[in-house]
Amino acid sequence: MLAATLDRLREGVLLCRADGSRLYTNPAAETLFRAHPLWSPGLGLALQDMLPPEALQKADAGGTWNDYVPFGEGRMLAARLSLCSEGGSHYLLLLQDPGLVRDDQDLLRRHAELNVRLTAAQEKLLQAEKMASIGQLAAGVAHEINNPIGYVHSNLGSLQEYLSSLFALIDAYERALRSPDPRAQLAEIDQTRERLDIDFISRDLPQLMTESREGIERVTRIVRDLKDFSRSDRDNSWKLADLHAGIDSTINIVWNELRYKATLEKRYGELPLVECLQSELNQVFMNLLLNAGQAIAERGVITVSTGQQGEEVWAEVADTGAGIPEEMLQRIFDPFFTTKPVGTGTGLGLSISYGIAAKHHGRIEVESKPGEGSRFRVVLPIRQPQD
Ligand SMILES: Nc1ncnc2c1ncn2[C@@H]1O[C@H](COP(=O)(O)OP(=O)(O)O)[C@@H](O)[C@H]1O
Ligand SMILES: [Mg+2]
Repeated sequence: MLAATLDRLREGVLLCRADGSRLYTNPAAETLFRAHPLWSPGLGLALQDMLPPEALQKADAGGTWNDYVPFGEGRMLAARLSLCSEGGSHYLLLLQDPGLVRDDQDLLRRHAELNVRLTAAQEKLLQAEKMASIGQLAAGVAHEINNPIGYVHSNLGSLQEYLSSLFALIDAYERALRSPDPRAQLAEIDQTRERLDIDFISRDLPQLMTESREGIERVTRIVRDLKDFSRSDRDNSWKLADLHAGIDSTINIVWNELRYKATLEKRYGELPLVECLQSELNQVFMNLLLNAGQAIAERGVITVSTGQQGEEVWAEVADTGAGIPEEMLQRIFDPFFTTKPVGTGTGLGLSISYGIAAKHHGRIEVESKPGEGSRFRVVLPIRQPQD
């Protein structure tokens, strides 16, 4: 029965003596040998002639040896050599048909292709979530820019009126100077001043200028924040970075969206430079901040704190919002899990954030009490482990 089984195997089986000479060759192995340009049954090859020198040494030392051996024209055979020491030592060599190996390679190739496709899909999801959060931010930023631009515009309108009044007054003075009796004109000048409300203009104008300047400065600041934020987004490499700077530029951007609902408290500790992908971490903070804001219905507090503990640093976003029910806590990191209406939530933010923390060999911890609020803590190693 054993012989019949060996005859039917598609794998080549060779049993060899301790000196490497062949004791038994099954039909599949015979076929392989006939097809091999160098091995042929007539030559009576020993193991040493077929396998690389280290094969027998490895099998002697560790019991087995595995590798691919050349099978002519760039094809390979999978070979497994085992040392069998029961009843006097001998070797067992298993050879796998190139067809089967090719199947394996097909499998490997398909596996690699799938991996590439999966990575591309993940990349797309990451981009989708980014776009969704940026869409929300854009609305906030637009509002924030619109407001100062609005009053600077209306101030410019007033300024135009004031200027024409001032020019009218200058005209009145000129007329007075040119007249034969300037003193007689003074009464008219007084009248003009009153009519044009020059006293009010001289009080209002400096205020109007200050206010307009502040408006323009606010717009400049928002544009600078946007630039900081997008600069860090373009440069995505492992670097030693100041987490506080990253968090601050993210807060500046996100805050436009949140300031009407929440007050911000910062409790920063001392942080060393942290080895990280800063733009990806910014995306994590952005998502935690937006989630915190969305959890607050009317008014609340968002507290951002940081600190160091041993070889790790942490950054935490806490809110006084709705909180998360116990049974939901395990699901919030699942991709596409969202409790928000369509268009607001993608359900990807936390799952992507979790992935980014994991890539940094870190983690995200959550604590939440329904009705009281939630805290999300990102914990990261200061230095990435070697290799
Ligand atoms: N700070 C928070 N307070 C309350 N619930 C939260 C908070 N952060 C996340 N969640 C819950 O986790 C879910 C998933 O969050 P997330 O992955 O960012 O997706 P999304 O914000 O698009 O819904 C949210 O829909 C919400 O139910
Ligand atoms: Mg979110």
